[in-house]
Amino acid sequence: MSFDVERVRKDFPIFEREVNGHPLVYLDSANTSQKPVQVLDVMRAHQERYNGNVSRSVHTLGTESTEAYEGARARIATFIGAASPDEVVFTKNSTEAINLAAHSLGQMLRLGPGDEVVISEMEHHSNLVPWQLLCERTGATLRWFGISDDGRLDESNLDELVTERTKIVSLVHMSNVLGTVNDVTRIAARARSAGALLMLDCSQSVPHLPLDVQALGADLIAFTGHKMLGPTGIGVLWGRLDLLAQMPPFLAGGSMIETVTMAGTTFAPPPARFEAGTPPITEAIGLGAAVDYLTGLGMAAIHEHEQTITRYALDALSSVPGVRIFGPATIEGRGGTVSFGVDGVHPHDVGQILDALGVEVRVGHHCARPVCSRFSVPAMTRASFYLYTTTAEIDALARGLDQVRKVFG
Ligand SMILES: Cc1ncc(COP(=O)(O)O)c(C=O)c1O
Repeated sequence: MSFDVERVRKDFPIFEREVNGHPLVYLDSANTSQKPVQVLDVMRAHQERYNGNVSRSVHTLGTESTEAYEGARARIATFIGAASPDEVVFTKNSTEAINLAAHSLGQMLRLGPGDEVVISEMEHHSNLVPWQLLCERTGATLRWFGISDDGRLDESNLDELVTERTKIVSLVHMSNVLGTVNDVTRIAARARSAGALLMLDCSQSVPHLPLDVQALGADLIAFTGHKMLGPTGIGVLWGRLDLLAQMPPFLAGGSMIETVTMAGTTFAPPPARFEAGTPPITEAIGLGAAVDYLTGLGMAAIHEHEQTITRYALDALSSVPGVRIFGPATIEGRGGTVSFGVDGVHPHDVGQILDALGVEVRVGHHCARPVCSRFSVPAMTRASFYLYTTTAEIDALARGLDQVRKVFG
């Protein structure tokens, strides 16, 4: 059965609206995705009918809430192929998940001078600044993979970068700027043989690709609910259970303890150890509903649809004179995020003209300044696609770029 994008769009109330007198053309899903009514309904039902705090109430509402919260955890675990729901730690977003990992691993590994952490030039600031801060705090050294001219991870110096000094490798799985999907097979094998832990920032891959954490070869991954049809305020740190069990807590407070006396505290096993305080309950339940929705359509079918759209967009954009695409020019090893420049026009002007036509793209450095520096530009325009994107919307983008060229001569 072919993917029925028009049917899918009917689930998203936002597509009924206009922007500046034009039908909404939403090409900013790498930034945040739109939400289907199935997710909105589930969240509303929780607030309206069975709101109660989790893991602490004996009353009916608390029990129902806890069941829904833990049920969401279990379905998210299945969605990513986790060995157990206990491997799924709820956080606020990817950023918090990565900060949690950086703090906790730094302490667990007693990171210090002589140790190395390896990232890449392709990182979102969320997977860069926490490791910079960790290295500053501990005296460890930060090293990184570069980016090749065609926007792929440059692994040519893998053996020099990942050595017995390397304690942690943390890489973006799919770039939020270049769209590159990094095949981490070789890096994972090298990290394993060097005795280093591998973390992957899957913020852009979990929403768009069928993903199995067992096959990926990583020890930890992070992703964020709002980019995968869920609400803001909820993210996930997945980790191998034996690793999570060794990691010290990040935030401390209620719900993460085993025993507390005035003399000291012992901590709950994961995931509770990492979920201090009242968690984002409705948001976790909403993310569970998002995962149900994605599973219902099938991640392979969603991915295939996005590949079709991306191929169409790469063709359309490369036929607009003066447009330069940053990142892989072909569909191989890339996802549906396409950044580009228009000769002689600042991305903010591109974004404004497109917005006037109802076409919503992101402009700027995309929280990945080193990527912009790598391509010697201060900013880029980015169009990013999802399961609801149509070829007609790509045509609207191309027409908008013609308009940009007219306005700027
Ligand atoms: C690759 C990547 N990593 C991390 C993040 C951070 O996500 P959040 O802001 O939800 O924590 C983003 C968000 O744009 C991203 O694209």
